[in-house]
Amino acid sequence: MEDKPIVTATGNQQVSNSPEADNSVLEIWGRHPLTGHVTVSGAKNSALVVMAGVLLCSQPCRLRNIPNLVDVERMAAVLTALGVKIKREADFLDLDPSDISHTRAPYDIVSRLRASFFVIGPLLARMGVARIPLPGGCAIGARPVELHVRGLQAMGADVQIEHGTVHACIPGIRKRLQGANIYLDYPSVGATETLMMAATLAEGETVIDNAAQEPEVADLANFCRAMGARIRGVGTKTLTISGVPSLHSTDYAIVPDRVEAGTFLIAGAITHSKISLSPVVPEHLGAVIAKLQEAGSQVVVESPNRIALIPGAEIQATDIQTLPYPGFPTDMQAQFMALMTLSNGNSMLTETVFENRLRHVAEFSRMGANIRVTGNCAVIQGVPMLSGAPVMATDLRASAALVLAGLGAHGKTVMSGLQHLDRGYEQLEQKLTKLGARITRLEGSAAQAAAESEELTPTELSV
Ligand code: UD1
Repeated sequence: MEDKPIVTATGNQQVSNSPEADNSVLEIWGRHPLTGHVTVSGAKNSALVVMAGVLLCSQPCRLRNIPNLVDVERMAAVLTALGVKIKREADFLDLDPSDISHTRAPYDIVSRLRASFFVIGPLLARMGVARIPLPGGCAIGARPVELHVRGLQAMGADVQIEHGTVHACIPGIRKRLQGANIYLDYPSVGATETLMMAATLAEGETVIDNAAQEPEVADLANFCRAMGARIRGVGTKTLTISGVPSLHSTDYAIVPDRVEAGTFLIAGAITHSKISLSPVVPEHLGAVIAKLQEAGSQVVVESPNRIALIPGAEIQATDIQTLPYPGFPTDMQAQFMALMTLSNGNSMLTETVFENRLRHVAEFSRMGANIRVTGNCAVIQGVPMLSGAPVMATDLRASAALVLAGLGAHGKTVMSGLQHLDRGYEQLEQKLTKLGARITRLEGSAAQAAAESEELTPTELSV
């Protein structure tokens, strides 16, 4: 197969950079049983940060299992703007970071992809200077970056924020960051990743305490180790990084996406369908599996990288609280809420990671869900049935949750706001169609007609 550049070194015209412009919709006919097997894509959050991590190395690297997503294209556009040469073939990316020509990331892309701020650590460590626009808040919260900044300062960087851009440089002539002891006030995924990457090329030893333990952080650490970094404590709260002068080329496959896998497990539970998934790392899904079992489903580990969801007769009300890993992931909160709307009883769902991540409640209510929100808590009184309705995705995971609600609802749901879905789910509707779901993407006038069509009469409802 011929190599296909997904972005050019001269610009980002090929990148779908206009989330605002997507007028297409998903039409979902609910209550169809699903069956079969889902192939889980590579983890979006690993892919993004591992791509940034390539900047640490001055030799070409190959990354495998990279999902084809708008967010991945955007990260590629940021790296291209910095001088990295990128080619995509199938699910792998070849990145050549030998000639970094710029140390300033372009605002128009950083503002569309928060994770692109994470290039600050590797760029600073390798080039001695990085100028990255502040990404700003997003639909789920303000998302400050002071933990990233304070950690880099502790490692000897001079960091100033001027006119909305973080200017970081390593003062003096040695141009290496210095190892430091860093305690994170909160186990931030992004801050842990930024500081771990920066520390790989620092002089001396860095200890990051209260580090995030998310599997994607461990995946980044393993990628850095494959390039020759010396990191101990991977997957624990304390990371110890002994800096090395340079890193080398590697060929690395990222882990499967635990959030995509969790979303499909809930698709099985909400449609009372048995489905299997692979590849997965079952331990990465520990909290989600525990809560699905509490809700009445069974999750069976069929082989080391394959699991199956066996649905229960009824969906039992279940409380959840989102927490840093290994707690229940905030990225699964909206999807679990979709399941709880159809449960037998009352559930309390508490969001502790992001301050504004319950906006999907209003959309579930349009479908007949009974949910009351106080602060960061949602009390969900299960209803016997949801009814399809026009709904609007408010953020990435909310978009998946509304698809799930649509699968479990009577009649037709028409979801707009697909630019959110396309950021983070590879071929969601194709994968669901393969399982037997009736879900279609409509564009242009067909999308408008679907959104405006009358509700179905009861005789037309599928069961
Ligand atoms: C990453 C994930 C995102 C996931 C989140 C939590 C990527 C690309 N995104 O986001 O999908 O939902 O982890 O698991 O990997 N915070 C501060 N100051 C900081 C940094 C963070 O107050 O300097 C706060 C945030 O505002 C938020 C909380 O810490 O309330 C968690 O954020 P963090 O773990 O950093 O999430 P991200 O890395 O942005």
